[in-house]
Amino acid sequence: MIARLLPALALALGLVAALPAAAQFGGPVSGTPTNPVPATATADELELQKALTGGRIAGRISIPDERAASLIQPEGREWREFRTTVLSWVGGIAVLGMLGIVTLFYLGKGRIPIDGGKAGHSIQRFNVLERGAHWMTAGSFVVLALSGLNLTFGRFLILPLIGPESFAALSLWGKFAHNFLAFPFALGVVLLFLLWVKDNIPNRLDIAWFKAGGGLVGHGHPEAGRFNGGQKMVFWITVLGGALVAASGFVLLFPFWFTDIAGMQVAYIVHALLAVLMIAAMIGHIYIGSAGMEGAFDAMGSGQVDLNWAKQHHGRWVEEETRKARGAAAPRGARAQGAD
Ligand code: HEM
Repeated sequence: MIARLLPALALALGLVAALPAAAQFGGPVSGTPTNPVPATATADELELQKALTGGRIAGRISIPDERAASLIQPEGREWREFRTTVLSWVGGIAVLGMLGIVTLFYLGKGRIPIDGGKAGHSIQRFNVLERGAHWMTAGSFVVLALSGLNLTFGRFLILPLIGPESFAALSLWGKFAHNFLAFPFALGVVLLFLLWVKDNIPNRLDIAWFKAGGGLVGHGHPEAGRFNGGQKMVFWITVLGGALVAASGFVLLFPFWFTDIAGMQVAYIVHALLAVLMIAAMIGHIYIGSAGMEGAFDAMGSGQVDLNWAKQHHGRWVEEETRKARGAAAPRGARAQGAD
C-alpha cells in the first residue's frame, strides 16, 4: 500500500516544489487545477488528497492539444501495475513453461522418427505461395516476438549483460523493427487464412486425434487429413490470435487515431497478453516443425515430404491426393521422385 502511494506522494511534492513564485501569491500557472483554488497550503493538500485517492490532476495549457493538459490519471497507475507485475509473471511463466515442456519432451521422447524409415518417394505438401506466406509470417513473428520480449524483460535480463549504451541501441532498432514488421506479419496472417481455412475446419477426426493424444503421447498414429487437430489449433491461434495482436498493435502504433487513452490502455493489455501466450504456443510449434519430428521441416523447406512421413501423419490426405492424381489426366500433387 505504502509503495503504491509513494510515487503519487513524490509527484505531488514535486509539483508543489516546482510551482513558480507567482503561485505562492495565488496567480494562475500552467500545471494548476482547471478550477484554480487559492494557492495555499490547503490547496496543495487538496491536490495531494486527489492524487492519493485516485483522482485526476489536470492542468491548463496554451497548446492546442487538450490531451496534454492531463497530468495524472488513475488508470495510468493500474496500467503500470499490469505492465510491471501481471505481464511479467504471465509472460515469464508462459514462455519459460513452454520451453521447459519442450525440453522435457525432447529428453523423454527424443525426436519422433518416421516409422519404417524414409520411403525415398516424396509428395508435394506446400506450394511456393504457401511456403512464402508461412515464412513471411514466421520470420516477422520471430523478430516481433524477440523485440517485444525485450520491451518487457530486456531491462532486467539484457541491460545488465550488455550495458546501457548497447542496450539503448538494441532497443531502438528493436522498436523500429517491431513497428515496421507489424505490416508483413498482418499481411501473412491474412494470406495464411485465405490459403488454409478450407483445410482447417474442425471435424470428428480431430476429436479422435485429441483423444489419442495426437500420437505424441502413447502409441499409434491417429488418422488425420491435410492438417491434424493440433495443427488446426496452431492455425486458429495464428489467425485469430494474430489478427487480435495485430489490430491492438495498430491501435498503439497510431496513438489517438482510433481511441482515447483509456482505449489504448485496454489495447496494450490485449496486445501484450495475447502476444506472450502466442509466443509460448509458437515455441511448441517451432519445436515440432524442426528438431522434434523427423521429416517435418521439409514440408516448409522444399515443400516435398517423404511419402512414409505423409502416410504416418496425414494418411487421409495422402489417400485424397492419390485419388486426385489418378483421376486427373495429368497427375498433380502426388508424384514419385525416387530416392536422392
Ligand atoms: C520460425 C520457425 C518455424 C518453423 C521451423 C515452422 C515450421 C513449420 C512446418 C514444418 C510446418 C508444416 C507442418 C506440416 O507439414 O504438417 C508449419 C506449418 C504452419 N506454421 Fe510454422 N514454423 C515456424 C514458425 C511459425 C510461426 C511463428 C507461425 C505463426 C505465427 C507459424 C504458423 C504456421 C501455421 C499456421 C502452420 C499450418 C498449421 C500447422 O502445420 O501447424 N509457423 N510450420
